[in-house]
Amino acid sequence: MPRTYLTTPIYYVNDRPHIGHAYTSLATDVLARWKRLDGHEVFFLTGTDEHGQKVEKAAQDAGMDPQSFTDQVSQHFRDLAVRMGFSNDDFIRTTEERHKRACTALWEVLAARGEIYLGHYEGWYAVRDEAFYGPDELVERDGVKYAPSGAPVEWVREPSYFFRLSAWQDRLLEFYQRNPDFIAPASRRNEVLSFVRSGLQDLSVSRTSFRWGVKVPGDDAHVMYVWLDALTNYITAVGYPDTEAERWKFWPADVHFVGKDILRFHAIYWPAFLMAAGIAPPRRVFAHGWWTNEGQKISKSLGNVIDPLALVEEYGLDAVRYFLLREVPFGNDGDFQRKALIARLNGELADGLGNLAQRTLTLIQKNCEGRLPPEAPRTESDAALFGSLDGLIGTVGASLDAQMFHAALESIFASVREANGYITQQQPWALKKTDLVRMAAVLRHLHSALRVYATILQPFMPDTMARLLDQLGVPEGARDLAALANPLPEGTALPPPAPLFRKIEETA
Ligand code: ME8
Ligand code: MG
Repeated sequence: MPRTYLTTPIYYVNDRPHIGHAYTSLATDVLARWKRLDGHEVFFLTGTDEHGQKVEKAAQDAGMDPQSFTDQVSQHFRDLAVRMGFSNDDFIRTTEERHKRACTALWEVLAARGEIYLGHYEGWYAVRDEAFYGPDELVERDGVKYAPSGAPVEWVREPSYFFRLSAWQDRLLEFYQRNPDFIAPASRRNEVLSFVRSGLQDLSVSRTSFRWGVKVPGDDAHVMYVWLDALTNYITAVGYPDTEAERWKFWPADVHFVGKDILRFHAIYWPAFLMAAGIAPPRRVFAHGWWTNEGQKISKSLGNVIDPLALVEEYGLDAVRYFLLREVPFGNDGDFQRKALIARLNGELADGLGNLAQRTLTLIQKNCEGRLPPEAPRTESDAALFGSLDGLIGTVGASLDAQMFHAALESIFASVREANGYITQQQPWALKKTDLVRMAAVLRHLHSALRVYATILQPFMPDTMARLLDQLGVPEGARDLAALANPLPEGTALPPPAPLFRKIEETA
């Protein structure tokens, strides 16, 4: 059985989840569901990043000890995963024992291979990003220096262990060369390449000025740099350092889904750490774009953070899942607009797919005694419909293998439009009086089309498509891609149809 390992970032528990976190996990969920539908054994991992100065400060601000604080906030991310319908197979927390064990083991391997040495760090650090910056990357406003991300930086001066990143520059460039699909989309790949070409410095991988982290083995004064700790989660979850573990077969990961803000860590530091430890690097890192809210940067201080659960409450889970992946090409920045969500929900979902299903199933109910008509030969008048259906699964699969979620949905809904045109043109309701055989054929063709749409849209809208498959009379065991090769038997009893989507009145 082919295998697929997919990951989301592990999110900082300094604050509650918002739409950006839901977005990355949603994309990962859709690909995980698609691969399962396509017969893969899938391991889908998400979780929370709980160490470091940023989380320690957030706990202090909340007047709590860091462990109880992270227990509490981490739970919000778990709840989000359930409410958003994410199908993750594990949820990792970096404060777990298994993870500390993996970090310690990885450190020991790196140290034994001479990849880590003790020195002294002096330079700029942004707690918000948990990242070091060079002086040339900063801008100054009102006496405060800021990183390119907008995070304020502070001067840090302390003993530190270093990872010999500078020694990996050429081997990284060679790795990117040999693996042209490692970084996606292509524009991001070029950014990373030019950053690496401009020269890499050794990386500070431990801190001594606070305690909330994994202790450096053999030197209790240091805790590991939170990014070394965090990135390691991807191998912890598959059993590292136990390479005999049942899950180790999933490594290397197929896609690490991340936002563009953390690409550098995943595309440079992570493969360097792994190669230095003699472990295979992941196959691909996809860095998607950034959501703004009605034109504004999303931030707590602006008070415009979008709560994904409130959206789900208002518009329904599947409408939100559909919209987030349909609206913006994956990889591009996107602006969240309620108007656009309502337009897509009403237009493409309710009027497009919903109506097609309702019209078809109502006619089968009324004119065929609720029983599926027999398969029928294709005629000239059916050519356009089948032209949009034949090959659709291949097209969608190729789009999803490239993480082009919007393109996958575009092809499916182009076919839905074709099918709506077909029903309008063929008028099966009128055929009732003139040609019962043709009426049955048209309805069967429409049913076949709907079965394809419902099957391949399951990863995007699992609940609604389960209801549609119920209405289409497709048994539970016949809902994967392979099952589409077997037509449903003539005479299958179909339950009375019910609307799939609820339209939303547009308000001012
Ligand atoms: O960076 N638009 O965690 P984090 C789109 N712990 N995506 C967004 C977004 C927005 N406005 N805001 C956040 C960390 N995201 C580290 C990761 S991984 C080993 C460690 C998403 O809580 C996006 O995926 O700051 C981004 O990369 C991630 O949340 C950052 O989450
Ligand atoms: Mg962040």
